[in-house]
Amino acid sequence: MTHRLAIVGVGMMGEALARGLLEAGWSPAEVVVTDAVSSRADDVAKILGCAKASDAKDAAAQASGVLLAVKPQDARSALEELAGSIGAGGLVSIVAGMRTSAIEDALGRDASVVRAMPNTPARVGKGVTALAAGSNANDATRELADAVFSAVGPVVWLDESKLDAVTALSGSGPAYVFLVAEAMVDAGVALGLPRDVAETLTYATLEGSSVMLRTTGEVPAVLRAQVTSPGGTTAAAVSVLEAKAVRAAFIEALRAAHDRSVELGS
Ligand SMILES: NC(=O)c1ccc[n+]([C@@H]2O[C@H](COP(=O)([O-])OP(=O)(O)OC[C@H]3O[C@@H](n4cnc5c(N)ncnc54)[C@H](OP(=O)(O)O)[C@@H]3O)[C@@H](O)[C@H]2O)c1
Repeated sequence: MTHRLAIVGVGMMGEALARGLLEAGWSPAEVVVTDAVSSRADDVAKILGCAKASDAKDAAAQASGVLLAVKPQDARSALEELAGSIGAGGLVSIVAGMRTSAIEDALGRDASVVRAMPNTPARVGKGVTALAAGSNANDATRELADAVFSAVGPVVWLDESKLDAVTALSGSGPAYVFLVAEAMVDAGVALGLPRDVAETLTYATLEGSSVMLRTTGEVPAVLRAQVTSPGGTTAAAVSVLEAKAVRAAFIEALRAAHDRSVELGS
């Protein structure tokens, strides 16, 4: 088969990426899945109509390229299983913190490897992914990585040294947005709104603001100024947020996430 992807580990991310590929027009015959929990691979294979392999080695043998989507603590043993079985499409890894050099060490120095940092909105086809090529990454692996992650959102290629910053920004980013959402809902309830109404208002506000950021071509400061009339309600709220140093807190928080990512990867 010229073009078939083995997905090793169909947990939350592996399954989301498999779904994204099928929704983007790949045929089920172009995907084979495997998981340490055999029943999980059975379920995903059945839902998606794709093949299931008994283990990582078997999956790689049936495919031209591999997507490694296991947890960091399972990555070494999965790579040991895969060594010697990777096809011409090479290996794309989403394992957080595992450097391409470590993957090359495990698979063999000439292995063609791309490392990806996606985020959880990939589950709803709205992810964003940074990709970094290993030192021997060939065109086939780069194209495979582009195809897999473009199916669930925009893709940016960066030097691997930038992936700790990406982890801090978009990898962990959904958690910051969910925290803001929680706080806005609670504040709405404190002001007397029913919880379901506060939720509807908050979620639609976040979604609408996000679409404006992507579509108007304006930077956030301009869009914020447009809702902030002199002496008005928004100005009153924003002056409290600035006094509480929310902007500085975000900068410090992302720095902490970046430093933790460096620490975990070393
Ligand atoms: N969630 C995110 O936002 C995010 C973002 C970027 C990157 N990532 C990375 O994505 C990876 C997967 O995360 P996840 O949340 O999808 O994890 P997950 O839900 O735990 O899925 C991983 C699956 O792989 C299975 N597995 C373990 N060893 C295996 C092996 N040797 N062969 C085949 N299957 C194996 C696991 O089985 P068991 O249940 O038996 O362990 C599990 O079902 C992680 O490395 C994470 O760092 C996640």
